[in-house]
Amino acid sequence: MRSELSLAVVRGDGIGPELVASALEVLDAVAGAEGFTVRVHDEPGGAGHYDKTGAPLDAGALDRFRAVDGVLKGPVGLPGVRRPDGTEGGLLGGVLRVGLDTYANVRPVRLLPGVRGATRHEPGQIDYVIVRENTEGLYLSRGAGVATEAAACDQLLVTRPGVERVARFAFELARSRSGAPSDGKRKVTCVDKSNVLRSFALFREVFDEVAAEFPDVAADHLYADAAAHALVAEPERFDVLVMENFLGDILSDLGAATAGGLGMCPSGNIGATAAYFEPIHGSAPAIAGRDLANPVSQVLSAGMLLEHAGRASAAARLRSAVERAFADGAVRLRPDGGAEDGTRAVTKAIVARV
Ligand code: NAD
Ligand code: IPM
Ligand code: MN
Repeated sequence: MRSELSLAVVRGDGIGPELVASALEVLDAVAGAEGFTVRVHDEPGGAGHYDKTGAPLDAGALDRFRAVDGVLKGPVGLPGVRRPDGTEGGLLGGVLRVGLDTYANVRPVRLLPGVRGATRHEPGQIDYVIVRENTEGLYLSRGAGVATEAAACDQLLVTRPGVERVARFAFELARSRSGAPSDGKRKVTCVDKSNVLRSFALFREVFDEVAAEFPDVAADHLYADAAAHALVAEPERFDVLVMENFLGDILSDLGAATAGGLGMCPSGNIGATAAYFEPIHGSAPAIAGRDLANPVSQVLSAGMLLEHAGRASAAARLRSAVERAFADGAVRLRPDGGAEDGTRAVTKAIVARV
């Protein structure tokens, strides 16, 4: 294993810089304990950068992201920064997810001991991963919808190769896990609206074909509305879920509410030749700069980065430090998901347990 981990970091907007600072502090502590160093290249990007320069990222950024061992991104976005078409400027989803072809957006939802979610569940009951298709679906229309003064239209595109690769990713992921909390059985659930829309009918058809390649992993289906209900009412039945881009966006925030809030939820955007890691949430402008945000989403994203970079023992050390900080009662969350004693105190509690 090389003695240096090279990172590119986008600190982002709103709470992004304070979250990324927290994650880098934890990474440094983990690296020290594991005998390697972390080198950071700062890449400016996001809505503030777009406002200043007219571009969400500097030229050549994608190549720099491909050249490092890992990319850690903070949340971006300032709701007041708009493009002429009315959508937000400086969001990086379209640029990075499509640009790096990171087709699988991996969003683990796990209720940790010592954390209370907004629902009445116990730790151990909620432990699933949403695999969100990340390059097509409704989002393919990003920047390409059509509009008149009176009407606007975005299209939802599902392709066979797009579903094949993300479904395979979901089944491979299920093979590496220990099954649903309710019965320990490995399973992938396809979430769609194939009862209504033909794009989703294709999604389900291709999912079923891929499922047949994985006889050791169970496969089932749920319509998205029923899935929203089941994720709240009986989350223990889920192991891995795979779904279209927009559905994955919405259901992952719903899952976060059951696991202690958005600030508990990390993610990885993973493709065949590139990956980057970020919280699932946004830049939370109202609490930015106030030492209120929960940095765990960003810290656990750094943990996913370590795992992806082949540093499994460092990743395990990071995760265990986070888990113990909650289990010991050293980190407490407010009902709104904020950090009771502040972002910095959470960081300190985690670092102390590395
Ligand atoms: P948001 O996720 O920023 O905030 C939703 C709610 O959750 C707010 O109440 C916020 O205070 C709270 N919250 C979020 N993260 C938290 C944390 N770590 N700790 C404590 N509380 C937290 O969503 P929004 O307000 O709809 O969007 C704000 C901006 O973020 C917009 O510009 C949006 O486009 C952007 N956005 C970016 C990303 C990304 O960069 N990946 C993701 C989602 C939204
Ligand atoms: C997310 C975000 C993004 C999305 C936005 C900011 C483009 O909400 O990563 O979940 O909708 O994909
Ligand atoms: Mn989202």
